[in-house]
Amino acid sequence: MSTDTSRPIGVFDSGVGGLTVVRALMERLPLERIVYFGDTARVPYGVKSVSTIEHYTAQITDFLLQQDVKMLIVACNTMAAVAAHIVAGRAGAVPVINVIEAGAQAAVAQSAGGRIGVIGTPTTINSNAYARRMHALDAGVRVYSQACPLFVPLVEEGWLDHAVTRMTAQEYLRPVLAEEVDSLVLGCTHYPLLKPLLRDVAGPAVRLIDSAVTTAELAAGCLQAEGLANDGTRPATYRFVVTDVPLRFQTIGERFLGRSLGVIERIDW
Ligand code: DGL
Repeated sequence: MSTDTSRPIGVFDSGVGGLTVVRALMERLPLERIVYFGDTARVPYGVKSVSTIEHYTAQITDFLLQQDVKMLIVACNTMAAVAAHIVAGRAGAVPVINVIEAGAQAAVAQSAGGRIGVIGTPTTINSNAYARRMHALDAGVRVYSQACPLFVPLVEEGWLDHAVTRMTAQEYLRPVLAEEVDSLVLGCTHYPLLKPLLRDVAGPAVRLIDSAVTTAELAAGCLQAEGLANDGTRPATYRFVVTDVPLRFQTIGERFLGRSLGVIERIDW
């Protein structure tokens, strides 16, 4: 493997949501170049079968490896939940970080009483991946999970502080909050945008674990440990590659990224 530390980091997601992870990476690692891949033609993944997600994940991993990336970041919780083994099996010596590992580590480390809630897409929650990882890190924690399928469309609609979203959150979180959790893992790329609303609904006693921020932190540690951090001789550049440019993509993408996207490359699959 090349030792050129100016090679980009490959970040991927089922669509636009992984831009929350890119945003956290830009803030935490401003010297790093990033190639982002969003499978906007085939999103959402969160309601698809495991075998379909595995197949898509393999295609995306191979595409990013062809871009000579120095690290892969699985920004999509759904892919991390059911297809992390596919990425690891193809990555060879390229280190791989994923949002579930990052979120699980942060939750276990930060939970005061070991009572942790997890919210995500149906596929992520059904996979039990967060609970399994957290139990492997600390067998004593109690994990309460809840699928929130309506959150993704509500966020994409821009209803971040809307009465409908608030009612939906109250409904979804009720059983988890009834278990008196002290932390809540936002186990989906879209949920960091709901943080202010979820903070309100969950109340001040519940710590929100944002897997975008924790992933950027884990990536920073891994780059240092592997001697792969960019020394800044080549400036940070960002490429955004997608499989479709749907209506409103620019608006939604820029809301997730918190800045202008610039040129968007579309590839035909
Ligand atoms: N990116 C997905 C996740 O983090 C949410 C969108 C989808 O269902 O594809 O789980």
